[in-house]
Amino acid sequence: MHRISRILAPVDFSPCSRASLSQALKFAERFNAPVQVLNVWEVPHNVRPDLMVWIEGSDGQPVSQIASADAGRQMNAFLADLSPEERARIEVKLEGGDPVDTILQVASEGGFDLIVMGTHGRRGLTHLLIGSVAEKVVRQAACPVLTVRNREGTAT
Ligand SMILES: Nc1ncnc2c1ncn2[C@@H]1O[C@H](COP(=O)(O)OP(=O)(O)OP(=O)(O)O)[C@@H](O)[C@H]1O
Ligand SMILES: [Mg+2]
Repeated sequence: MHRISRILAPVDFSPCSRASLSQALKFAERFNAPVQVLNVWEVPHNVRPDLMVWIEGSDGQPVSQIASADAGRQMNAFLADLSPEERARIEVKLEGGDPVDTILQVASEGGFDLIVMGTHGRRGLTHLLIGSVAEKVVRQAACPVLTVRNREGTAT
């Protein structure tokens, strides 16, 4: 395998993506490479992203802005346990869109040479071998994809 110089770690804040981020950080240390931690936030399929929402005590905001701010808060909480050394290695990216398309696009445009992601995510149906986002990224990515199982969370 050639040198790994850029690692992409897509996370959906699930325990499995925590396990995959921790694996990504081990590779990062081994190869002295930076890790981009990516979350793709979505608005529900039947909701227009520019739909205005009024939350008590604030001005109206488009639903996409609320989803993006929420992803930012979840990302901060998700990364709170990282050591200062790990923090120094990571860069955070939040993108709105379809998770598969966005992960593939970020991976190719950013010139990443390894994607490290969980086998399962938030829905975590453990009877399935692998979640649909992970499966499609494995099938379509131009670079190698490492999928990581969450040992604690799976029955087998
Ligand atoms: N919106 C997302 N943004 C970034 N990474 C994601 C996102 N969704 C999933 N992932 C990545 O893909 C991994 C597998 O999640 P996936 O969505 O494939 O499984 P699932 O949620 O169990 O099943 P499904 O979504 O197919 O019902 C996660 O651990 C995470 O690394
Ligand atoms: Mg999922």
